[in-house]
Amino acid sequence: MRSARRIVVVANRLPVTRARGDRDGWEVSPGGLVTALHPIVRAREGAWVGWTGSADKSVRPFTHESISIRPVSLTDAEIRDYYHGFSNRTLWPLYHDAIRTPEFSARWWRCYHEVNRRFARAAAAAAREGDMVWVQDFHLQLVPSMLREARPDLRIGFFLHIPFPPEELFAWMPWRSEILRGLVGADVVGFQTFSDAQNFSRLARRFLDLEGTDTTLLVGRRKVHVGSFPISIDFDDFDSVARRPETTEAAAGIRRATGDRKLILCVDRLDYTKGIDLRLRTFEHMLDRGDVSASDAVLVQIAVPSRENVPDYADQRVEIERTVGRINGEFSAPGQVAVHYFRRNLPREQLVAYYRAADIMMVTPLRDGMNLVCKEFCASRPDGGGVLVLSEFAGAARQLRRALLVNPRDTDGTAAALVGALRMPRDDARQRMAILRMMVRRHDVHHWAHEFLEKLD
Ligand code: ADP
Ligand code: G6P
Repeated sequence: MRSARRIVVVANRLPVTRARGDRDGWEVSPGGLVTALHPIVRAREGAWVGWTGSADKSVRPFTHESISIRPVSLTDAEIRDYYHGFSNRTLWPLYHDAIRTPEFSARWWRCYHEVNRRFARAAAAAAREGDMVWVQDFHLQLVPSMLREARPDLRIGFFLHIPFPPEELFAWMPWRSEILRGLVGADVVGFQTFSDAQNFSRLARRFLDLEGTDTTLLVGRRKVHVGSFPISIDFDDFDSVARRPETTEAAAGIRRATGDRKLILCVDRLDYTKGIDLRLRTFEHMLDRGDVSASDAVLVQIAVPSRENVPDYADQRVEIERTVGRINGEFSAPGQVAVHYFRRNLPREQLVAYYRAADIMMVTPLRDGMNLVCKEFCASRPDGGGVLVLSEFAGAARQLRRALLVNPRDTDGTAAALVGALRMPRDDARQRMAILRMMVRRHDVHHWAHEFLEKLD
């Protein structure tokens, strides 16, 4: 049964962001959070509290596609300390298995605290009596408790889109108790996987001295539910775009333009957690060994620019571009470029055309809370074709068992899986895809929101 309560989403980013270099333009914000939540909030005509993505002084509330948009302003110093600093240089690497070394700065932490207070105030002002407020992601972990203080009448949910680290890593955090205390202000604290939820419950019991189990914590007399809610996509939306004749034509055009070779597709935010450089090196190794050649296969990497002011992201871009150059210099032939690299944000229709054109989709993050790209690929294959090669370290691997699962750090193992995908008999590939599609269709984003909001209600 669908809840009648209105929902107010509170997320660092609004679903639309100031367009680059255009003070008056807006574009859809990048990343999985917005992809997943946008259709949910739109269907419920809810409100969305978030940042515009630039240092706007103050932007008035407005309505976008039936969503009441409530902008929160950040100064340049806050963008530096709260967003680039504590969110992207402390929390992001720490929560992703410390793939890069997290940096701990007391100034960034103070700013994170202040900005969380501002979001909590904005949420308290946007919520009407009886609303459900749904706080999102690692940027806003203190908001649930701050909001509860101001508005004890509200039902408050929190969902973390990225992994929650195990005890050995979370214990590094100098402000670990404060963060845990912030989170237990919610009535429901949701994670992508069961082990993320378990990590959190155990840490909350240890560092906050709470009573409880893996699924319920007692905070005074209040019960906090802890659970896993694997996020997903709007299956029907991708499926229907993929079925359009224009999409089929565009997919055929992409295949012609890449020389009708086996097309290996990779689509990611340009983030070091996505394993883009390692994947390219695996492909290079395969070309070198003669497992594949540029005359029979092409790798297309589409990467959307992300967090470019953070040094590790700038380094990752340089590393990727250097590797692409080296591979093409060594292995391309006239009219047969080994790697096509596009660093840009594609409109949904074009992205789906690429998904439809691909023989193989390679999604090989070193760590990922869920990963929506692999689910989008399955939803975009109503023709039943395509093989998915998926990292074990994406949350999605727990659901998409019929993908070819790989450890991206194991070059030979990943190469063997890719060769297996290139040679897979058609019937086997179609059978796998049918099961993957059924899984994504059943567990779509509406199912995810329904499960979470039912619990919260
Ligand atoms: P993350 O949340 O870490 O960005 P996900 O895989 O969960 O990773 O979500 C990424 C989202 O961004 C997906 O909806 C995907 O379609 C979108 N995306 C990634 N790369 C591009 C691109 N180059 N152009 C357009 N959309 C992209
Ligand atoms: C991931 C995070 C989101 C974030 C997105 C894009 O999906 O979980 O919270 O919005 O990446 O990153 P950005 O820093 O550009 O908002």
